[in-house]
Amino acid sequence: MSKALRIAALMAFVSTPALAQGTGQPWMDSSKTPEQRAQAAVAAMTLDEKLLMVMGYTDPDQLMKEPDDIVPAAIKADVRANHIAGSAGYIAGIPRLGIPGQWQTDASIGVRVTNMERTALPSSLATAASFDPKITFDGGVMIANEARASGFNTFLAGGGNLAREPRNGRNFEYTGEDPVLTGAMTGGLINGIQSRHMVSTMKHWAVNDQESQRTTVDVTITKAAMRQSDLLAFELIYDTANPGSVMCSYNLVNHDWACENDYLNNQVLKGDWGFKGYVMSDWGAVHSAAKAANNGLDQFTGYPCCGHHGAFFAAKNLKPEIENGNIAISRIDDMAQRILWPLFAKGVVDDPAKVGPIDFTADAAVSQNAAEHSLVLLKNDGNLLPLTGVKSVAIIGGHADKGVMAGGGSSGVTPIGGSAVTGIAPTTWPGPVVFMPSSPLKAMQAALPSAKVAYASGDKIAEAVALAKKSDVAIVFVTQWLGESFDGHLELQGNQDALVAAVAKANPKTIVVVESGGAILMPWLDKVPAVLEAFYPGMRGGEAITNILTGKVNPSGHLPISFPASNAQLAHAEIPGFGKPDGIPVAVTYDEGAAIGYKWYDVKGFKPLFAFGHGLSYTSFAVSDVRPRLDGSSLKVSATVTNTGKRDGATAAQIYIGADATAGWEAPKRLGAFAKVDLKPGESRVVDLAIDPRVLARYDEASDSWVIAPGTYHVMAGEASDNLPVTADITLPGYMWSAVHK
Ligand code: BGC
Repeated sequence: MSKALRIAALMAFVSTPALAQGTGQPWMDSSKTPEQRAQAAVAAMTLDEKLLMVMGYTDPDQLMKEPDDIVPAAIKADVRANHIAGSAGYIAGIPRLGIPGQWQTDASIGVRVTNMERTALPSSLATAASFDPKITFDGGVMIANEARASGFNTFLAGGGNLAREPRNGRNFEYTGEDPVLTGAMTGGLINGIQSRHMVSTMKHWAVNDQESQRTTVDVTITKAAMRQSDLLAFELIYDTANPGSVMCSYNLVNHDWACENDYLNNQVLKGDWGFKGYVMSDWGAVHSAAKAANNGLDQFTGYPCCGHHGAFFAAKNLKPEIENGNIAISRIDDMAQRILWPLFAKGVVDDPAKVGPIDFTADAAVSQNAAEHSLVLLKNDGNLLPLTGVKSVAIIGGHADKGVMAGGGSSGVTPIGGSAVTGIAPTTWPGPVVFMPSSPLKAMQAALPSAKVAYASGDKIAEAVALAKKSDVAIVFVTQWLGESFDGHLELQGNQDALVAAVAKANPKTIVVVESGGAILMPWLDKVPAVLEAFYPGMRGGEAITNILTGKVNPSGHLPISFPASNAQLAHAEIPGFGKPDGIPVAVTYDEGAAIGYKWYDVKGFKPLFAFGHGLSYTSFAVSDVRPRLDGSSLKVSATVTNTGKRDGATAAQIYIGADATAGWEAPKRLGAFAKVDLKPGESRVVDLAIDPRVLARYDEASDSWVIAPGTYHVMAGEASDNLPVTADITLPGYMWSAVHK
């Protein structure tokens, strides 16, 4: 669709609310509650109009090939006219009622539309490392502004799956291994997006923790373990951000597809949590009509796509189910009401998106700021960093002369200026492999104008070694490309480990910058004095990395995931179906339960390579005086954080709670709360944090309740899960409450 046509289509909706006021369209009255408005609109809709809202489409070219009796010509024409080319999807509006269409775009780091250049944030895993929900909020506002200005009103963002499987190809789209961190960081992103009057999803619901055979894998896990881990992460996102939509995932959970899983959708999400919005399917994740509708799916989205199994929610297929009583008409009304609710509640109807100009310079600054608050200094022996007084720098590998790596799949944004490197396989889905055009080499040359900064690609190790030998310092960039639809390896691929080892041997002042989708192994770690984890650092990653290496910015990121020391530390030696062609039925049993990440390491007594929460600074901090107290029935903890070094800096103060076996927890300690604290040298601040009671409880399946066992709990404070210097005990009374939200 041309830009002009799109503007015209949007203008139709812009003008509707004003026309509707006082003209018998009570749903346009913004003084009514979103529930009242949605109810009134449903009451005015015909069955055909309701059914129009429950089925979403993608790619008009493919749609044209569908038979007309399944997708009528009028729908095809509407999709052809209104779908934004190259975007994720479109759902028709009801113009006669002033109900806008839904224009959907991926995903958590920015607007993803094929051939549409937009600003990319660092990966979600990267910004989780900021331990600062304001960073994800600001990022959410920025990408939502770009989305609105591009004609979208629905964001398929809000990745909330835990990094249960460290090799999961999509871990970079999520916010780490801990439910409390994920609740706050993904919640921050969704809050930012929805503050701009868009609907955001949270996804992929649920326990979609591996990409190998993602459309067929049957996950077995106990309800209690799920509630205390994967579902708790989503519950905390939900509490933080109240997303308008939830995207159900491809996999099966306890033998039922997620998109027709009564337990997940009806009992937990809509029942216990009181979710008022709609469950939309992942693209191609629907397997039935009546079962899916009755078990909680409200909108079948992204048809035809991704090896779909049938147009189950097309009117042609739903109507007979309604007529024969398999789907009650009240359920159809409920589906429509749920889809409408966030359009009113989040401001989509009252403040429609408008195609318009975008301030890419300001948006790039938001992305750079996010990266600068997120990159994690893992190691800095002898204070090699920040670089001072260097006359020559060797930049080696990772295409660092051109740009910084990004992840693959549906979250991949085409950056302004296009990918800095092309032609790396795979060049088609889930590729292409994109490098953001933000060259660390050029940024370093600009930052150190009087130094000689030279580049070697690393393809020929001897050349890199020669350059490293004649330079004051060597900076080796290593990359791990991950993406949707496949899982990766912890081992760096190609010659990268050998390259680092050889360069480190040639120059003892070797720094490694890691651009990765998740954790990697570092067989060379003992040989290098400094390591910076940059994840996928976004549109201005080269500048952010350089500012940290040169000390213009003091690093303050902390790891949102543990880095295993070896494959032997993983909970699952093999990922079922790994590396096999898609579509093979496989099963996985998560018998580690809720013991994910650092919890697993604690249970097993393993020492990771780098612990969850770890992150260094160019200054130093002390955490002291930890004081737990009961405030009514809730646990509050205060602690003092002091900058004991010589420059301004920030740390992530972390409070963990420990319990003994009688508490029934999956592991000896859990992250209770955290706060990012920015301090001047010598400055102290008292942080006072509330501990969510669910962090203190176990989930009791028999009574569907949370239960806090009476007894002594250990409150620990510090700057990483393995660096908790201060502790204090508190005795808590027993407490039990229903899983149902009030
Ligand atoms: C992904 C979703 C994405 C959707 C639409 C699916 O393949 O799993 O995360 O939102 O495509 O692009």
